[in-house]
Amino acid sequence: MLKFPKSAALAVLGLTALATPSLADGDAGAGEKVFKKCAACHAVGDGAKHKVGPELNDVFGRTAGSAEGYKYSNAMSEAGQGGLVWDAETLSTYLAKPKDMIKGTKMAFAGLKKDDDIANVLAYLKTFSQETAAAPAAVEAGETPVETADAGAAVEAAPAAEMVVEKSQGAFGLGRKAMPDEIAAWDIDVRPDGTGLPEGRGTVAEGEPIFVENCAVCHGDFGEGAGRWPVLAGGQDTLRNDRPEKTIGSYWPYLSTVFDYVRRAMPFGNARSLSDDDVYALTAYLMYLNDIVDDEEFELSKENFTSVRLPNEANFIPDDRLSEPHYAKGIEPCMSDCKPGPVKITARAQVIDVTPEGEGDENSGGGID
Ligand code: HEC
Ligand code: HEC
Repeated sequence: MLKFPKSAALAVLGLTALATPSLADGDAGAGEKVFKKCAACHAVGDGAKHKVGPELNDVFGRTAGSAEGYKYSNAMSEAGQGGLVWDAETLSTYLAKPKDMIKGTKMAFAGLKKDDDIANVLAYLKTFSQETAAAPAAVEAGETPVETADAGAAVEAAPAAEMVVEKSQGAFGLGRKAMPDEIAAWDIDVRPDGTGLPEGRGTVAEGEPIFVENCAVCHGDFGEGAGRWPVLAGGQDTLRNDRPEKTIGSYWPYLSTVFDYVRRAMPFGNARSLSDDDVYALTAYLMYLNDIVDDEEFELSKENFTSVRLPNEANFIPDDRLSEPHYAKGIEPCMSDCKPGPVKITARAQVIDVTPEGEGDENSGGGID
């Protein structure tokens, strides 16, 4: 840590406080809650890795677009090369409206509307930034840098003495048998008949705030999809259209897929961070967004789960590969010369216009955009 005279340190602190009065009021505790909006894409703390966005440890004092090993947009890299350094002021401007400040940033986030949220989230991020977190400590203690909050909270890895690890019995003696806990953590699939459902429950009303906090940045407040992120609701009666809109309500056959998918894979970039009750509540909320229930007090639980039917279920068939006619007949599939008679070319890609002719050509390509 740099040593510098008390008065100079205080002057620096004073200046910072003057330049950004709102940050001085920031509440790191409240900021931790705001950060949930960011956590889908950003990690902080011990061992934080890049996700959809770069990790944000030591973001105060970081030159924009400079975190090692992260692939930024050209816009962000150029902003950094142009001298943009993240501090309370530049971060406040960016977080209010990312795309206004850096045209072409690939951060798909509309911005924080409330000044308080910005001040609080910055206070929270500051606890993960050495540069600023250590400065006040240096003033008090003279020289010893004090560990930042996250470093203090770091949990020591527990010694694995009591684990009994079974060696592999395989021919090469490699690896070991999976432990029951490891299998349990991996074996989480939920089937249409309810097999695999965990204990738990949640209502539509409970699901809404969880959705707004963890999902709406990408999927929109009502599942309408922000930007080009997937749409989760609507699309009823579009399956016969040229461009069907396939959603949970219009297309998916089983509610178990919603539960399983959300629990396994969402929020994107922060998978497995939700409790089972959260997933029940979110599934109930997604039913509500798709007009499958209209009561906000509707509670979905392990007990009533299989009584729910999605509108499009009847258009799917269970295919167990044993009773399904084609396979059940046990016919050997044809692997060569399957088409009787000579093969005739009936159309060419160029003629039916699916071959792109060149970049920027308005008429190039077929129906795919
Ligand atoms: C949907 C994903 C997403 C969300 C949500 C999101 N970010 Fe980002 N963020 C990104 C991406 C992607 C980048 C890289 C931008 C680029 O290269 O143009 C980024 C860049 C940044 C940067 C610049 C970092 C650097 O190294 O230059 C900061 C600071 C930042 N985000 C803060 C936040 C905060 C704080 C929030 C929550 C209030 C947030 N972001 C929410 C995806 C996201
Ligand atoms: C950072 C953006 C992001 C966030 C936040 C996010 N998702 Fe997603 N979600 C995606 C992407 C991307 C896909 C498509 C993934 C794929 O196809 O591999 C997806 C797919 C889905 C799907 C399947 C849609 C379909 O029709 O195929 C569901 C359901 C879903 N998300 C629910 C949620 C829920 C519930 C949350 C909140 C707990 C959430 N997502 C948070 C980005 C996000």
